[in-house]
Amino acid sequence: MATRRIGIIMNGVTGRMGMNQHLIRSIIAIREQGGVKLPDGDVLMPDPILVGRNAQKIEALARAHGITRWSTDLESCLRNQEDEIYFDAQTTKQRYESVSAAIRAGKHIYCEKPTATDTQEALALAVQARQAGIKHGVVQDKLFLPGLLKLKRVIDSGFFGRILSVRGEFGYWVFEGDWQPGQRPSWNYRQEDGGGIIVDMVCHWRYVLANLFGEVQALSCLGATHIPERVDEQGQPYASTADDAAYATFELAGGIIAHFNSSWCVRVYRDELLSIQVDGTHGSAVAGLRECKVQSRVNTPKAVWNPDIPNPIDFYANWQDVPDNAIFENAFKVQWEMFLKHVACDTPFPWDLLAGARGVQVAELGLRSWQERRWVDVPDLAAELS
Ligand SMILES: NC(=O)c1ccc[n+]([C@@H]2O[C@H](COP(=O)([O-])OP(=O)(O)OC[C@H]3O[C@@H](n4cnc5c(N)ncnc54)[C@H](O)[C@@H]3O)[C@@H](O)[C@H]2O)c1
Repeated sequence: MATRRIGIIMNGVTGRMGMNQHLIRSIIAIREQGGVKLPDGDVLMPDPILVGRNAQKIEALARAHGITRWSTDLESCLRNQEDEIYFDAQTTKQRYESVSAAIRAGKHIYCEKPTATDTQEALALAVQARQAGIKHGVVQDKLFLPGLLKLKRVIDSGFFGRILSVRGEFGYWVFEGDWQPGQRPSWNYRQEDGGGIIVDMVCHWRYVLANLFGEVQALSCLGATHIPERVDEQGQPYASTADDAAYATFELAGGIIAHFNSSWCVRVYRDELLSIQVDGTHGSAVAGLRECKVQSRVNTPKAVWNPDIPNPIDFYANWQDVPDNAIFENAFKVQWEMFLKHVACDTPFPWDLLAGARGVQVAELGLRSWQERRWVDVPDLAAELS
């Protein structure tokens, strides 16, 4: 058994996602567990170099986690032949330029979603990656959440019969920043900085729907900016120029209808921050981030509309938990391990820059649907690649 080093240039790791999910809970966790076991018995050990704009911040971050390599010079990092992978978790607006430069330098690419702020750039990255012959992947973390993995198991078992509809409820209250600090970075609420919940969340819903239920063929989306002014990290008021809620309906290949409400202006009265209900002819399920409950046709109580009497049925009572039956690891780490194996051993990894571009495309068409107040069809982007 040999240990094989794999060098990863990690950019944007002083941010929320880059630091917590990708650096600490994925790459450092993988190093601490002794690397990733490969099919041939070898072990792959990630060796990150942290890149950022602020030397003090990036050095402190590296030091805090026992990482010896850090830099403020992306260009020279990209010239280092010893580091094969470029990872990007910068704000969405910075992604195109850095990922494109990394592709030109021959690096394999792994990056956060959205891969760009518009379809043209997202598709251009997929084209450049294909032409360069490098390996590429995009974060699609929701697929690896325990609740959604259990939901996938329920789907694969045939439990639902014919699936009719999917309804997703996502969101929580993001403080405005005046009397309590906002718990998301302020750029999320400024369109000019790549913000907006449609760009942010609709690309998640696209891959969840495509991987579990069917590719999105058309959508109708109504966005809103419910909170017109917020207060930023420096205590300065700013105008919210981006949407902070989206109400979107999707038609899927195969005829399933899906609807997702996404909002940073909603108070939570549900078990988890994301709840996805699936109704089928033979059964239904409600999946969250960690849990999944099912109700089969034989457990379905007969509901009768009568508001004149107190409700006689406890509607929560006839649902059953889907058991874990497995140990679930951090969703980002699971996908990182799959990508590293893909680079090292060519194991399959379908969530590439084309998949990322499809997500950006559906989000962009969501914005268009809202602007033009109409249903919009989703053309197949694969045709653009050939
Ligand atoms: N997969 C998910 O569930 C998920 C969740 C949230 C965010 N994201 C995505 O991850 C990316 C980062 O989001 P975040 O919430 O960590 O943001 P953040 O603001 O916390 O971090 C942004 C990072 O980009 C760096 N950066 C480089 N150039 C910058 C510039 N000119 N302006 C501002 N920052 C710059 C910052 O230094 C920081 O390291 C975004 O693309 C976002 O859409 C993904």
